[in-house]
Amino acid sequence: TPVPPASYPKPWLGAQPAAVVTPGVNVTLRCRAPQPAWRFALFRAGESEPLLLRDVSLELAEFFLEAVTPAQGGSYHCCYRRLDWGPGIWSQPSDVLELLVTDLLPRPSLVALPGPVVAPGANVSLRCAGRLPGMSFALYRVGLAAPLQYRDSAQRWADFPLLGARAPGTYSCYYHTPSAPYVLSPRSEPLVVSSDDSSSLDYTQENLIRLGLAGLVLASLGVLVVLDCCSRSSGVRRIPAEQRRHWDPWGPPGSAPLSHPSPLCPATFFKPWFLLL
Ligand SMILES: *[C@@H]1O[C@H](CO)[C@@H](O)[C@H](O)[C@H]1NC(C)=O
Ligand SMILES: *[C@@H]1O[C@H](CO)[C@@H](O)[C@H](O)[C@H]1NC(C)=O
Repeated sequence: TPVPPASYPKPWLGAQPAAVVTPGVNVTLRCRAPQPAWRFALFRAGESEPLLLRDVSLELAEFFLEAVTPAQGGSYHCCYRRLDWGPGIWSQPSDVLELLVTDLLPRPSLVALPGPVVAPGANVSLRCAGRLPGMSFALYRVGLAAPLQYRDSAQRWADFPLLGARAPGTYSCYYHTPSAPYVLSPRSEPLVVSSDDSSSLDYTQENLIRLGLAGLVLASLGVLVVLDCCSRSSGVRRIPAEQRRHWDPWGPPGSAPLSHPSPLCPATFFKPWFLLL
């Protein structure tokens, strides 16, 4: 077939009431040319011959698909031609229109971004992703009958932001065509969003650190007591080894143990160390 010149710009193809419909609906495909045309043709992907032809002298042609069946779904495009163009020459093809005839849209997926475990101060976004652009999406929280959030999207997915503090729970979503006749998807698999337990682990670690510090303080106090003992004992005359051996802790007052250099206390060594601390 002859290649259409670029000066024969492409028409536009649309579907009424929608390109995604349930079986049995009457669908009208409308081909609109950018200039008055003499003949319009509707093509189906993979077929070289026009599926339908319309002779008009306007810029618009309508192709009726009555009570569509799933088998009529697929890729369509349209072309137009003018009487004064050479034989067999059609305009550039329109963009492809995907007609989907189904009772049930593909099941969406539901994921949490950046992840299903949320830190208390952070937010999370739940992405419900289907396979078709331009759908309406609804997010449900298990236990609530009404949708938690609802939004239309030009993309194949919709993002639902949640405040991190309120996010923990179980969610699912579904999507449907934005207008009647509605075609629905089944619900997604449930998604569990939980709060970040590692933050309570942080508290545990913090407590451990506090305990450790408290232990350190106690140890320091102990050392100070020993130091105190050392400094007092260092000022006291050294007791001969003979006497020390015979010292009786239950003996008469005066032979106080504090006057002894403690075996823990090699005072001359310890002192400069603890002054540095
Ligand atoms: C579809 O079109 C036919 C013929 O025009 C009409 O009889 C029928 O009621 C229509 N069906 C629907 C669901 O609109
Ligand atoms: C979470 O979302 C709220 C409301 O949109 C916002 O005020 C807050 O700054 C967000 N917090 C973080 C950590 O992004």
